[in-house]
Amino acid sequence: MLIELLLLLITLTIAYSLLINKIRGLPPGPPPLPLMGNMRSFDDPMDHTLLRWSKKYGPVFTVWMPGPTVVIADYQILQDSIVKQGDVFGDKSNPVNQMKMLVEGEYGLVQNANHMWKEQRRFALHSLKEIGFLSTSLQESAKSYAQKIVAEWKKEGAEGKPIDVTQNLMYGVANLIWQLAFGRTLNFGDPMLNEVEGEVYKFFVGMAHPCVLFLDVFPQIEFLDSLFGYPIQNLKTAHTNCMNIMHKELDITAKTLNYDEEPRCYADSFFIEIKRREEKGEDTGNFTRHQLARATLDMWSAGFDTTVTSLKFAIHYLMSYPEAQRKMQKEIDEKIGQRQITMEDQKILPYCMAAIVEVQRTANIAEINFTRLTNQEVVIGGHRIPENTAILPQFPSVHVDPEIFERPDYFCPERHINDAGEFVKDPRITPFSMGKRACLGEGLARMELFIFLTTFVQHCSFSSPTLIPPALKTIRGLTRSPEPYNVKVSARF
Ligand code: HEM
Ligand SMILES: *[C@@H]1O[C@H](CO)[C@@H](O)[C@H](O)[C@H]1NC(C)=O
Ligand SMILES: *[C@@H]1O[C@H](CO)[C@@H](O)[C@H](O)[C@H]1NC(C)=O
Repeated sequence: MLIELLLLLITLTIAYSLLINKIRGLPPGPPPLPLMGNMRSFDDPMDHTLLRWSKKYGPVFTVWMPGPTVVIADYQILQDSIVKQGDVFGDKSNPVNQMKMLVEGEYGLVQNANHMWKEQRRFALHSLKEIGFLSTSLQESAKSYAQKIVAEWKKEGAEGKPIDVTQNLMYGVANLIWQLAFGRTLNFGDPMLNEVEGEVYKFFVGMAHPCVLFLDVFPQIEFLDSLFGYPIQNLKTAHTNCMNIMHKELDITAKTLNYDEEPRCYADSFFIEIKRREEKGEDTGNFTRHQLARATLDMWSAGFDTTVTSLKFAIHYLMSYPEAQRKMQKEIDEKIGQRQITMEDQKILPYCMAAIVEVQRTANIAEINFTRLTNQEVVIGGHRIPENTAILPQFPSVHVDPEIFERPDYFCPERHINDAGEFVKDPRITPFSMGKRACLGEGLARMELFIFLTTFVQHCSFSSPTLIPPALKTIRGLTRSPEPYNVKVSARF
């Protein structure tokens, strides 16, 4: 009897695994287990696993994580769907239960509710333009932080002492976000920057707890929190701590805000919008203090780790590929000399531009990204996909596809240089995602990467403390980042 029951169970599981995609009208994919889906089948880095599955099941396939998600891992199909039919893929498929429980609901700029993202995104983009996102003030700050970081390294790394570059990179990047969000800069070493970083880090790490991963599907897990050592309570606390810091900063911004002057930062624009609506007797709608705090927190969560991590990869590549570094320096020496580099110089530094794109391609810091949600039935790569299906635009797998980039893990800026020595932009490299929910901070991020990296190699040479440079090992947080490493920094002048 027991044996028969067991056999029945096994048969049912196998039938489920093999048939569930067909029954649900979804593209084929790796066979999922009941409840767990394919969550246990990811072995190597996720972008590689997903690439492998795309070769096996086709460029459009289904993965259960643990809910069904249709993955698109082909450049042309991504263009034809996510970009060309942008309106169908604007919404995100957020873990609604999980967010309600952990972060007081779907607010902010990254995973806000689908009824509000258009208005909030439009407002944020407009505000960033108005306060001069790429205009002189933010660029001037980026330039001065680049100089400051270089000066710190020259001191710390004097007499060939190997150093860890992370801390100073963090101060520079953090301060630019602070300026954008709150209109203020902080001293390098301000303890608050480390505090925010620590809390957000705790939050990211906590999100990977198995209990939390299943929270959206089985909200009852919350009652078992104590059994597992309070992973859920800890996340709530980290979020509250972050929000308290945001509110404290917003209080300072509000106190010094002059409503008759141009906004200095995103928070200013937001306060001005609330006042404008109130004065006209309009409903303030989604323009609440809570939404503002969440939006500023999102600027940090989306813009801090991503930029610091990209820069840390870049310096690891400079150390490991000295020939590429020398070519960047030669180009800068010939065309710029020792004067300060500006965004205008992008045109005359093709090799540096190529090196930065190659950093973003090989670093591939987003192994996997947030899922979107179809708002109508749509055909993707020949598959009819129902309305309300979660979609993963898997652009990171395109970056590591050996059929597109020969020896994809090999860092080679020359891939992006033509015979005439010009920089050629490769549309298949999309580190900032694509379509209507592409990175909101792309302009700032590109500016930081360019100003920082060119200034770094202009002033310093980076080399390995050992004869053979350490292998590039990565760790998986919410982004993929290099393991801590030391590098020798020598001043060039
Ligand atoms: C090298 C640095 C960066 C990289 C590689 C990067 C990459 C990305 C990617 C791939 C997405 C799409 C996520 C998704 O599919 O939902 C995204 C979204 C976003 N990024 Fe960035 N990002 C960077 C820097 C920044 C910075 C500096 C900011 C600062 C304001 C920022 C703000 C945002 C926001 C608000 C979103 C959500 C947009 C939306 O859902 O409508 N990012 N970023
Ligand atoms: C937020 O804005 C959207 C329109 O952009 C609106 O449909 C929704 O009702 C608003 N929410 C609130 C709480 O006002
Ligand atoms: C998506 O990519 C961005 C940028 O790399 C990153 O900050 C974010 O954590 C990624 N999302 C997920 C779910 O991995």
